[in-house]
Amino acid sequence: MPPLRRAATPRRYLMCPPAHFEVTYAINPWMDPGKPVDVPLAVAQWEELRDRYRSLGHTVEELAPRPGLPDMVFAANGATVIDGRVLGARFAYREREPEAAAHLEWFRAHGWRQVHEPVHINEGEGDFAVTASYVLAGRGFRASPLSHGEAQEFFGRPVIGLDLVDPRYYHLDTALAVLDDATDEVMYHPDAFSPGSREVLRRLFPEALLAGAEEAAALGLNAVSDGLHVLLPQAAIGLFAPLRERGFEPIGIDLSELLKGGGSVKCCTQELRV
Ligand code: ARG
Repeated sequence: MPPLRRAATPRRYLMCPPAHFEVTYAINPWMDPGKPVDVPLAVAQWEELRDRYRSLGHTVEELAPRPGLPDMVFAANGATVIDGRVLGARFAYREREPEAAAHLEWFRAHGWRQVHEPVHINEGEGDFAVTASYVLAGRGFRASPLSHGEAQEFFGRPVIGLDLVDPRYYHLDTALAVLDDATDEVMYHPDAFSPGSREVLRRLFPEALLAGAEEAAALGLNAVSDGLHVLLPQAAIGLFAPLRERGFEPIGIDLSELLKGGGSVKCCTQELRV
């Protein structure tokens, strides 16, 4: 079969520069507070990602970083936006709690009218992924299963709960990426999910690209696609050929400093879907 013809659609993203990035606590297995972090390097790597989005024709809005919130760079966790509706976040760990308000303030100050402050714990697009037909929702480490019903009611889209079982893949966006949100195409690492959730994924996405242990461990599933370009960690080199076979253009990004916080491309990128 010849590779499909793919098309990029212009996106709007919200990002937060890592000016105050550090690893002072450990809330996932990637974080080691004993390891030093090079902030100027983190900022330079982050700027490359931002500039790459812009050079691809996407709009990047910036959220002002706040001191004392070292994980704020992982802007994907601050909200989920679909059809112009903003579902705020409620963080699982005390250390990140104040980030939720920073995001809500940004949306309210920028004229977003449909903003819902959640009752149940959800860490934004860390655990919610949007395809054409569904909102996929991770649980097991961060998001409360109750947040899934809350999201379904707010967005009016079917929410599919998926159980994460490996602490290294604590958010859905470390184990699964949406490749084409117009056609329900995804890639994921099966071992990150419970047997039942694996079966659900097989039923919903029989053609999915399956990522192996090595690619997952390079955080290769923490990827952002515009329908054509797939931006993903450079080290996940094993995903490049299968992506090309499917007609995508993989773009490797080096975010090695931010990996020390347990995040990469997708974690830094919240999509504003209007
Ligand atoms: N240190 C952050 C945490 O553990 C990393 C968040 C990564 N973000 C993501 N969307 N997976 O909460």
